Amino acid sequence: MSTRIYIIGSGVISHHHAMARAELPGSELHAADPSEAARASFQKEFPDAVMYESSDKMLASPAGEDDLVVVSTPPRWHVSEALKALESGRSVLVEKPLAMNVAEAETLLAAAESRGLHIAVCGSRFQSWTLNRKVRSLIVDGTIGDVYLVDWMHRSLCSRTGIEYQNGSWWFLEKSKNGGGPLMDWGPYDFNTLLSILEPDSVTVDHAVCTHPVIPEPIPEDAIFDTETQAVAALTFTCGEKQVRIRFERTCATHGETVQTEGVYGTEGYISWNWLPFGEDLKLQIHKTTGPESVDVDTISVDASKEPNWMFEPVLQFRNFLQGEEAIGMFDAKALHAFRLIQAVYESAETGSPVTLNL
Ligand SMILES: NC(=O)c1ccc[n+]([C@@H]2O[C@H](COP(=O)([O-])OP(=O)(O)OC[C@H]3O[C@@H](n4cnc5c(N)ncnc54)[C@H](O)[C@@H]3O)[C@@H](O)[C@H]2O)c1
Repeated sequence: MSTRIYIIGSGVISHHHAMARAELPGSELHAADPSEAARASFQKEFPDAVMYESSDKMLASPAGEDDLVVVSTPPRWHVSEALKALESGRSVLVEKPLAMNVAEAETLLAAAESRGLHIAVCGSRFQSWTLNRKVRSLIVDGTIGDVYLVDWMHRSLCSRTGIEYQNGSWWFLEKSKNGGGPLMDWGPYDFNTLLSILEPDSVTVDHAVCTHPVIPEPIPEDAIFDTETQAVAALTFTCGEKQVRIRFERTCATHGETVQTEGVYGTEGYISWNWLPFGEDLKLQIHKTTGPESVDVDTISVDASKEPNWMFEPVLQFRNFLQGEEAIGMFDAKALHAFRLIQAVYESAETGSPVTLNL
């Protein structure tokens, strides 16, 4: 069967989705974008791609059995474009964040279910990374005893998407276009990873703070910057009889000190690991304190060059899922979980009250 990939929005990330085609011999590539410059740059890199000015034109042809659509526009158009894909009879993979609000996300899931089609979200991009899966298996086999606490803190002092990274994509800074700040940008990866390693039955946001400390903002006068730059939350994951507390932070600009910690505490050990498959010397370590000055450390190293290309994973795993093959990712109802958790953090920060989600 030859796969036809239809990409809506041919900007920066779409090029990575298109390159996944290298793993799908004989596949066809179609892409739509209203921006002439975006279309020209895409066509230059993928000369055999069929280009369209609008997704309506692109999706007008009858759906094939092996078609899949990828939505890689800015978030405010994720659901409206994904709904068009479903209406055309095609299952759809949506870039993160899935939607702008929970109502939109639920509309999307209902539309897929009513048509017998499927949805997936790119927030699960790193779920198949060997070390993330290894953490899950070490938790399940009891290597560190009963898990009771996770540190998941990522605090940069000044690294804002739209300014320091991908300068000029001002929409990342604007709530009405991106839905939020670093929590919407990185939270999908954070929460997909935490949900996949702990597999909770329910999650409570005990309390949260989303704020925007004063840091100079070199942006045009007409650009709007009203998203949070620091999101901090205390979460409780209920896993069967056990409760695991999470100290969570995702910050792109604040005063203070840079922090990057991901670690799982158990009654018989502690796991630290590289949860992102980038860089060198990627490893997982199991620490067991044995005395005032002694810690046993077991190290598992991974050769990242033997791992898949992470930017291709969402398309390839979703395609496996659609083909009924083994696939790793958050599909259908599960595609909403991380997004609902992000929204629960915003809600708790705004109301000052805890918010519980049953998953
Ligand atoms: N840039 C990254 O490194 C990166 C990484 C992972 C995920 N993402 C996610 O991918 C999405 C897109 O980000 P990007 O960086 O590629 O943005 P971008 O601004 O480079 O590209 C978005 C493109 O979408 C087009 N577009 C807007 N509305 C459209 C519509 N209705 N139909 C068709 N095309 C439309 C725009 O013209 C633009 O070319 C975002 O949700 C982002 O969070 C980006």
